[in-house]
Amino acid sequence: MGSCVVFVSYIAVLGIVVALGRGVEGARAFFVFGDSLVDNGNNNYLATSARADSPPYGIDYPTRRPTGRFSNGYNIPDFISQAIGAESTLPYLSPQLNGQNLLVGANFASAGIGILNDTGIQFVNIIRIYRQLQYFEEYQQRVSALIGPQRTQQLVNGALVLITLGGNDFVNNYYLVPYSARSRQYNLPDYVKYIISEYKKILGRLYEIGARRVLVTGTGPLGCVPAELAQRSGNGECSPELQRAASLFNPQLVQILRELNSEIGSDVFIGVNTQQMHNDFVNSPQQYGFITSKVACCGQGPYNGLGLCTVASNLCPNRDEYAFWDAFHPSEKANGLIVQQILSGTTEYMYPMNLSTILALDSKN
Ligand SMILES: *[C@@H]1O[C@H](CO)[C@@H](O)[C@H](O)[C@H]1NC(C)=O
Ligand SMILES: *[C@@H]1O[C@H](CO)[C@@H](O)[C@H](O)[C@H]1NC(C)=O
Repeated sequence: MGSCVVFVSYIAVLGIVVALGRGVEGARAFFVFGDSLVDNGNNNYLATSARADSPPYGIDYPTRRPTGRFSNGYNIPDFISQAIGAESTLPYLSPQLNGQNLLVGANFASAGIGILNDTGIQFVNIIRIYRQLQYFEEYQQRVSALIGPQRTQQLVNGALVLITLGGNDFVNNYYLVPYSARSRQYNLPDYVKYIISEYKKILGRLYEIGARRVLVTGTGPLGCVPAELAQRSGNGECSPELQRAASLFNPQLVQILRELNSEIGSDVFIGVNTQQMHNDFVNSPQQYGFITSKVACCGQGPYNGLGLCTVASNLCPNRDEYAFWDAFHPSEKANGLIVQQILSGTTEYMYPMNLSTILALDSKN
């Protein structure tokens, strides 16, 4: 409770600092790329089964309606928007994203995608990462028509960017079915090396097309999500295979961020240790006000971890008591705690520095 109040007033102060530091455009723009952890509703506009646009998704959102966010309420990008004193970004495919709304930024994320083009093929129509990057270029042309090329470049270079990828390359590719094509092609350590080298290309491209401050999240403890507890664990222990995948992926991700930053000569890429943040909930849920970090609030079967979250699912009465909203995604409460760590976490959580340090640095420029 106490920390929550501190958190809110802290955000208000930051919002003012950032607003003062920026000119005509108000708060700095914010761009989001990646998968369902950060999708604000792009998949609502697509013919895909990877969607969160029916109840009880959104049950705790201000409108109490589903929005396409894979959360009971706000997701990670929403809390970051609040921290920089901005409105939530609109999905790039939203018809409302035009005129002045474009200056807030945009969310290009699409549930189901991964680093690899063949990740999430079972979801058919999703916006794969290279397509998200193309949309970002298209966005810049649209903004340029509105405010001119020079101010567009300032807006893009001055923006904060978030990218979340990787989880689906395991869950919805390598480990999707036994003897998946990728698992026959690569053993796990080689697969991780491969997707990391592909991720480095994606991040390099993001820099080329204008991103200058990019929060890059690692994967959470993949083996501990309710879906994996239900499918791969007899006794409630996290799945060792998926835990191994996360613990190979995350340190190598930080390594490529280091390499990219040193090639560029500036701290463009900031690593977010979501694995550590999540491990904190998993190891001591009570400390964060959760009654469980194993059972999903919404779902069915063991740990509420099987199938989708729908109106027919079990639904917990108090969502704030659950670290997981559905079989894969954190609750609004957990999302807020993660962003609190992004803002003010130590170097154990944020490499090489936290978001409040970045905001303070950038407001001086
Ligand atoms: C994925 O697709 C994009 C274009 O659609 C292509 O440029 C890229 O090389 C592909 N990645 C791999 C690993 O095949
Ligand atoms: C992170 O943010 C807090 C709060 O602004 C700050 O005091 C702290 O020094 C920062 N930590 C690191 C490691 O940058």
